[in-house]
Amino acid sequence: MHPTAKTDSTSARFTRRAFLGAMGAGAAVVALDLDAAVAAAQRARAEGTLANNFGRVFNLPPFAEATPQVKAALTEMGRLGGIMDAKDPLHEGPIRLITNPELSPNNRDNPFHTAGTTFLGQFLDHDMTFDTTSPLGVPTPPERSPNSRTPVFDLDSVYGGGPGPNPQFYNADRVTFRLESGGLFEDLPRAADGRAIIADGRNDEHLMIAGMHAAFMSFHNRVVERLRAQGTPSLLLFATARRTVTWHYQWIIVHEFLPLIVGRPLVDHIFRFGRQFYRPAGAPVIPVEFQVAYRFGHSMVRPSYRANLAGDNGQPFFGFIFDPAGQGQADPVDLRGGARARRRFIGWQTFFDFGDGQVRPNKRMDTRISTPLFQLPLQAIPSGDPPISLPQRNLLRHLTWSLPSGQRLAATMGIPQVDTSELAAFGFEQNAPLWYYVLKEGQALGDGIQLAGVGARLVGEVFVGLLQKDPGSYLNGQPSWRPTLPSRTPGTFTMVDLLTFAKVDPASRGQ
Ligand code: HEM
Repeated sequence: MHPTAKTDSTSARFTRRAFLGAMGAGAAVVALDLDAAVAAAQRARAEGTLANNFGRVFNLPPFAEATPQVKAALTEMGRLGGIMDAKDPLHEGPIRLITNPELSPNNRDNPFHTAGTTFLGQFLDHDMTFDTTSPLGVPTPPERSPNSRTPVFDLDSVYGGGPGPNPQFYNADRVTFRLESGGLFEDLPRAADGRAIIADGRNDEHLMIAGMHAAFMSFHNRVVERLRAQGTPSLLLFATARRTVTWHYQWIIVHEFLPLIVGRPLVDHIFRFGRQFYRPAGAPVIPVEFQVAYRFGHSMVRPSYRANLAGDNGQPFFGFIFDPAGQGQADPVDLRGGARARRRFIGWQTFFDFGDGQVRPNKRMDTRISTPLFQLPLQAIPSGDPPISLPQRNLLRHLTWSLPSGQRLAATMGIPQVDTSELAAFGFEQNAPLWYYVLKEGQALGDGIQLAGVGARLVGEVFVGLLQKDPGSYLNGQPSWRPTLPSRTPGTFTMVDLLTFAKVDPASRGQ
C-alpha cells in the first residue's frame, strides 16, 4: 500500500475548479486542477510542438442551422425516454441488470470487447481533448476554442506539468506519484472534502476511470522502482520513467485498442497507405468532427457494473454507474467518483481478461444509450450545469461546432451512406447529426462490434495522426522500439500486462 499523503495544504493550492456544479449538502465535488492542465499544454505550445486550439478536417456546410426549432429537435432526440434511450429497466436494480442480460435487450454484448475497453477509451479521450470554453448549442469557431489537453497521447492528464510545476501530484522524491489508500486498496489522492488531487478532474467522474488513473500512477511508480534497481541516475529517473510508461501505453493504443474499435485491417491500411483526410499542416490538432465522433464510446457504457468481486465486506460491489439516490451520500450507492470508502476500488478481472474466466463483455455500440447517462449527476459534467442528459449535450455540441451531417461527410469521403430515415420526425433523415450517424454506422455495418464507415476512418486517422505527429511518440523517437517490460507474451504489451505490472491485478490484490 502506498503512504497516505497529507492533503490539507494541497487543497488550498487549487485556485480554479471546473467541476463545481450545484452539489447537494455533503456531496463530494470532483476537483479539476485546470491550472495544471493548462500549464502543461501552454508549455508544450510555447515550445512550438503542439497546437492551441481545436480545428476541422472538412469545410462543409453545417447539418442544420442553430435555430430554436433545431435545438428543440436535438433536445427531443436526446431526452430521457426518447429515441436514443435504451430504456433499461432500472427498477430491477444494478445487480440483476448486469447479471441478467435478457433484462437489457437494447444493451447487447459485444463478444470481441471486454468491459474495460470502454474505460480505456474514455481515459484516452481525457488524454487528448478537453473543451472547457465553448457554449452548448451556440456556433463557435473551433479555431478560436482552446483545447486544455495536449493533443497527443502523452498522459498529460496524469503527469500534469510534471513534478516541478505540479508538486501536488507527486511524492517528496519528485519522481513518484502520490497515491493513497481507500482503506483496502489504492485510491486517488484526495482533499478532505473528497476532491481528487489529479491533473484532470474528469478522471474521477466514476470509479472505473478513477481506478484507471490510479492504475497508471501505480504503473509509473513501479517503472521507477525498476529503473532505480537498474541503476538509472536519479537525474534521469523521472524522464526515463515517463517515457517508458508513455511508450508502453502508446503500444497498447496501436496494437490493442485501435484494432478493437476500428478493426485491424483499417489500422494496417492507414499505416501502410497513409492518412487520406486527417493531414494537419503543422502541429497535431483535435478536429471537432473527431471530438464529437469519438463520443461513440458513450454508447458502450452499461447501466451498472460489478466494481469488484469481494470488496464490499467480502461481497461484490455492484452499482449503477450513476443513480440519483447516490447524491450527497458519503459512500454513494452508485459508482460515481469523488468519494472514498473501502469498497470503492476496481477489481479489474471483470474488465480485462486475466484468463481466470471472470471477464465480462462490453456493450455493443449502437444508437441506444444506457438510461443512467440521461441523468448525469452535475458533478460528472465539467461545466457543472444542465442539461444533465449526455446525449442532449452531445447533440447540441453539433450546433456549437457547426458540424456537417454524417451523410455529407460520407459523400465527401467517398463512403456509402447508411439509412437514418428513423430521424424523419426530427427533420434529420437526410442530414443526421454526426454522433448519431457514427453510432448508426457501427450498428448497421459493424454489427455494433466496431466502428464502420465515416466513424472508423475519422477515428482511425486521427489516432494514427496524433501518434505520427507527436515528436515524443515511439513512432517518431524510435520506430523499431518494442516493449521492454515483463508481459505474458514477450515482445508485446497489453492492458492486462500493464495492470499486472502496476500490481492492481487480481493476483496482487488476492481477490
Ligand atoms: C460513464 C462514462 C462517461 C461519462 C459519464 C462521460 C461524460 C461526458 C461529458 C459530461 C462530456 C461533456 C459533454 C459536453 O458538454 O459536450 C463528455 C465529453 C466527451 N466524451 Fe465522455 N463520458 C463517458 C465516457 C466516454 C467514453 C467511453 C468515451 C470514448 C471512448 C468518451 C468520449 C468523450 C469525448 C471525446 C468528449 C469530448 C471531450 C472534450 O473535448 O471536451 N466519453 N463525456
